[in-house]
Order: sequence, then structure tokens, then C-alpha cells
Amino acid sequence: MTAYKIRCRIHTIFRHPVKAQDCRNGERFCTDQGATDQKNQYLPVYHVPDKTMTADPSLVTTLGSLQLENPFMLSSGPPTASAGQIKRAFGAGWGGAVIKTIRPEGMVIEDLSPRFATLKGDDGELLGFENIELLSKKPVSYWTSQIPEIKEEYPGKVLIASIMGTPDPEEWSALARQVEAAGADAIEMNVSCPHGMPEQGVGAAIGQNPALVRELTRAVSESVDIPVIVKLTPNVTDIVPVARAAQAGGADMISAINTIQCLTGIDISSFDPLPSVGGFSTYGGYSGPAVKPVGLRFVSQIASSVDLPVIGIGGVSRWEDAVEYILAGASAVQVCTAVMWHGTGIIREMNSKLPEYLALKGMSSPDALRGLALGKLKSHQSLDRKHRVTPALVSPEACTSCGRCVIACRDGGYHALSLHKGTLVIDTSRCDGCSLCYHVCPTGAIVLKEGERH
Ligand SMILES: Cc1cc2nc3c(=O)[nH]c(=O)nc-3n(C[C@H](O)[C@H](O)[C@H](O)COP(=O)(O)O)c2cc1C
Ligand code: SF4
Ligand code: SF4
Repeated sequence: MTAYKIRCRIHTIFRHPVKAQDCRNGERFCTDQGATDQKNQYLPVYHVPDKTMTADPSLVTTLGSLQLENPFMLSSGPPTASAGQIKRAFGAGWGGAVIKTIRPEGMVIEDLSPRFATLKGDDGELLGFENIELLSKKPVSYWTSQIPEIKEEYPGKVLIASIMGTPDPEEWSALARQVEAAGADAIEMNVSCPHGMPEQGVGAAIGQNPALVRELTRAVSESVDIPVIVKLTPNVTDIVPVARAAQAGGADMISAINTIQCLTGIDISSFDPLPSVGGFSTYGGYSGPAVKPVGLRFVSQIASSVDLPVIGIGGVSRWEDAVEYILAGASAVQVCTAVMWHGTGIIREMNSKLPEYLALKGMSSPDALRGLALGKLKSHQSLDRKHRVTPALVSPEACTSCGRCVIACRDGGYHALSLHKGTLVIDTSRCDGCSLCYHVCPTGAIVLKEGERH
């Protein structure tokens, strides 16, 4: 069969390019929804394995020794700042939640106002989110009284207590014992907050020091019987030594990533860096859709180098993002920014669409997807240099003659495209197969034909 890289613009569920020759039974799904296979170039997507489709896949997910109703958890942040919020989220269908980081009694925090900044697309859509927020405002006593209540109402949900302390191991141990006694299912050690706390030698300052990570993880894991998760910071040159240090200290799982240190913007009228706190600012933590590529990179690196379950965090807002993290080696995912922007209700679509996808793939549960992309990550040098793609039009009607691909190829490519009387002409002798035109086309009119370099 002819090999095309294709993109279905009809189904949101079928967004990713796949090789058409992999598609065996997808036609049924695409034609059902009105997508047409024009001249065999607009091919249906997502291959369905030969084996019988799983009629009713389960979302139950294995997370080390824990079992989740589904792979979706709230991460530590504003959506888990109170017991009421966590209960509402559990009621809406989240499988688990990590409490907003609990600090020892002696650690005083005072939040700034404002404390958020954003990067938005032209249409107002959120791309990136910065925060300079600190830890839970609630005292330890609030959480030790609320954890049992949440667990009583939602015994089937996984409730994880995020904790932070100074480099004093005893402080971590004491806090860990308190939340374990209250009934938390697991502990997540926050050694990864990139703002405010590192100035005091905690948060990411600990997570950037493998020896300290090992020592504090050992202190916590020797103090409690429940699983200990270490949440890592992306603000390091190499995350692998830190992940290995957590494993050496006795961690049961790794979660990643916390936010990426950033400066989201500067007001060009006032010259104030953002978020402006009375004209001044500081570096904050970046999250939301823009950080998913960084999160996926770190999660795949961790999953490839330590023998522990990994929880993927960073830019998850749809079920497809979770699938990507699981394919990159995660057991489950956590979500913060998307819930802050769109509410806990996003879980409904995640929970309803993921089973459809699993059924299409013939998978019985999210566990079956774990790490399936890991073996496909290779060094740059070992990739096939003979492989090449050539652009082709899905159909003449799909092209609106906007000219974006022509300009992109002229000024950022190889001058291989032109418009003649409104028709796109592709000069394959000039084309270098870079794929830029495919990415800039706003209508999805361009497909990439696969072949070999001659
Ligand atoms: C406003 C805000 C507050 C956060 N507070 C915490 C926190 O207290 N403890 C923690 O471990 N992570 C905290 N995070 C980080 C998130 O848990 C998560 O790791 C990060 O935002 C990336 O995921 P996302 O893209 O889904 O938001 C916070 C994030 C945001 C946006
Ligand atoms: S693949 Fe690259 S070189 Fe080829 S037409 Fe597109 S932009 Fe131009
Ligand atoms: S960018 Fe897409 S729609 Fe615009 S001219 Fe190129 S192929 Fe046609």
C-alpha cells in the first residue's frame, strides 16, 4: 500500500499522523464521521490491531503497589488546596489527588499578589502558565484532620500527601509519619519547587543535589510503610542522576515534572517583569501545554534509567496527553494547570474517551500501553538517513491558496513551493523533505508521502 503520513481533521480523537500502511480497519471509523478518502490520499487513521477489539476496556491502572480507578490524578497545587476541592474532584471522577504541599509548622509562607502570568495564542488559548505561588496555607493539623474524612468518603480514591521540609531529615520524617498516621495512601516528596523555596535552601535546591535527595528519601522511606514518591525538578542539566539517587534512597516511585523556571514576559510599557508585584518580579515556575514536550522528555529518560513506576506531569489537559505520557513510560499522570483553567470537569471527557481509544487499539487497560514508545527513542546518529518525506496535497479542494507554505518554504525552507493560478505546485527536485510546509499549513491540506532518499 502507498505510504502516506496522514492527519485526520475530522476526528479530534484521531489527531496524530500515522503511517497509512499501518491502517487496517480505520476506514470504518473515519467514514462513519464523514471523512472521505479522496483518491486514496486522505486515508483513515489509527490502525486497529488484527486481534479482536477489546469490547470493554478497563481504566483501572496499576501504580506500583497502588491501584487507581483511572490514570488521572490532580497534582499538588491550587486544585488540591482544600479538602472540599479534593472531594469535589473525586466526585467528578478523578482517580487520585496529591494534596497541595504541606509544610512543617515552623516553615512560614506568605503568598504574593498577583502570582500568575500567562503566554497565550492569538486566539486567547492558554499556551503556558507561570506561577510564583508557595505551599499550602493550611497547617498540618488541618490536613491530618481532613485526610481521614476524605478517605472515609472516597475510600477507593488514591490520596497522596505532598510534603516539604528543610534539609533536616528528621523534619521530613516527622511530617511523613504524621500524614501516614492520618491515612494518606502515599507520600510525595516535593524536592522540586523552583521559586521562593530554593532561596531558603529547600524545594528545587534539594532536588538539584542528588546526595541530598538520596539522604532525605532514605529518611522518609525508613520512617513510613506507605509508598514514597519523589517529585523531581526539570531545572537540572541531567535528571537521571537525581532519579537514581531517589531510587538508591528507597523511593517507591518518581513523579516528574514540577514547573520549569521561567520569566514569562515583560510589560513593554512599564518595563515591569511579569507577574508584576508592585513593579518588581522574580523567576517563576512554568506549566501548562507548553511544557508537555519537556515533561515527556524527562519522563522517558527517567523510565529508561530507573526501575520504578513513574508519574507523568506537565501539560496534560486531554486524554491524548495522558496516553503520550504512558507510552513514554509513565504509569499514571497528574494534572494542575488544565484544571485551574477549565475546572475539574475535564475529567469526564478524559474518562469517556480513553476507553474508546483503548478499545480501538485492542488494549484491555492503560497498563498495556506503558512504555510502548520507549524502544523507538534512539540516538540522532542511529536514525535512518535514507528515509525522507515529500509533501503532497490531500486534495486540490483542501488548499485555500493562502500561500503560507510557499512563504515558509521560500524563507525558511528550500524554495520548492509556488502558487500558480491558485494551485500549489511542488517542485520535488528542490524539496529537502524538512516538513515545514506540513506544519504551517492551517487547513491540513498537506500530507507527507514517505519514501527513501535517492
Ligand atoms: C499555581 C501552581 C501551584 C503549584 N503548587 C505546587 C505545590 O504546592 N507543590 C508541588 O509539588 N507542585 C506544585 N505545582 C506544580 C504542579 O503540581 C505541576 O507539577 C506543574 O504545574 C506541571 O503540571 P501542569 O502543566 O499540569 O500544571 C504548582 C503548580 C501551579 C501552576
Ligand atoms: S518539505 Fe520543506 S523543502 Fe519540501 S516543500 Fe515543504 S518546506 Fe519546502
Ligand atoms: S498553507 Fe496549506 S492552504 Fe495555504 S497554500 Fe499551502 S497547502 Fe494551501
